[in-house]
Amino acid sequence: PEKGELLYEGKAKRVYRTSDPDLYWVEYKDEATAFDGLKRDVIPGKGSLNNRISAHFFSLLEVAGLPTHFVKLLGPREALVRRVEIIPLEVIVRNIAAGSLAKKLGLPEGRVLSRPVVDFCLKNDELHDPQVTEDQILALGFAAEKEVRELRDFALKVNEVLSAYLLSRDLILVDFKLEFGRCRDGIILADEISPDTCRFWDRDTKEKLDKDRFRHDLGGLIPAYEEIWKRLQGGKPVV
Ligand code: C5P
Repeated sequence: PEKGELLYEGKAKRVYRTSDPDLYWVEYKDEATAFDGLKRDVIPGKGSLNNRISAHFFSLLEVAGLPTHFVKLLGPREALVRRVEIIPLEVIVRNIAAGSLAKKLGLPEGRVLSRPVVDFCLKNDELHDPQVTEDQILALGFAAEKEVRELRDFALKVNEVLSAYLLSRDLILVDFKLEFGRCRDGIILADEISPDTCRFWDRDTKEKLDKDRFRHDLGGLIPAYEEIWKRLQGGKPVV
C-alpha cells in the first residue's frame, strides 16, 4: 500500500493513512520524552531500534495466539499495522516494584511482587495519564465491563509469554505498558512494545536496559537498546 496523509503525530510516532482503509503506516521517531514532556531529546537510532524490537515482540505474541495490530516491517523505522479504534487506556503490568509504584507506596526499587499487578491509566496528556479504577472506567464509559476483564486477562497472558521469553535471554521483565484497539475481530494489541514502554533489567547484574537510562540521565541509551535487540536475535528468529 502507498503512504497517505498524516493522521496523527505523537511523542514517539507518526501515523499515516494508506491506500487501504484498513491499514495504517507507522513511523517511529528518534525523539525521547519523559516526565510529561518536560525532558526531551533526540536520540538518533532510537526509532529504528524500537521499530525492530516491537515487531519482534508482536510476531512472538502472534505465534503465541495473542492478536496484534502488526502486519509487517516497511523500513528501518516504519511498519504497516491494522487500523483500530484505540481504547483510551494504558494497561500497565508490573512484576517488580519500580517507577511510579515504588514511589507511590514507598517500596524499594526491585522489590519482587508476590503476583503481577495490573494498573489502568487514562490516556490523557493534559491530565498526565491518571490511574483509574475499574469503577471509574465503567462509569465514564472508557471501556465496557467485558472489555476490562478481557484487557486484564490479555495483558497477563502477554506478561507470561514475554517474561518467559526474556528470561531465556537473561533479561527480567520488570514492568510494561500496553495499549489496545478495537477492530472487527474484537480487541487486539496496538501501539508498541519496546524499551521505551517496558523496563528490562539484566538478570544477573540488574543493569537497566530501557528508557530509565534517559529518564535518570544514566547515558548509554542506544547501547542498551542494541543489547536488547542483540539478545532477542540470540535465539530462533521470529521476524
Ligand atoms: O511510570 P511507571 O513506573 O508507572 O511505568 C510503568 C511501566 O509503564 C514502565 O515500563 C514505563 O516505561 C511504562 N509506561 C509507558 N508509558 C506511560 C507510562 C508508563 O510506556 N505513559
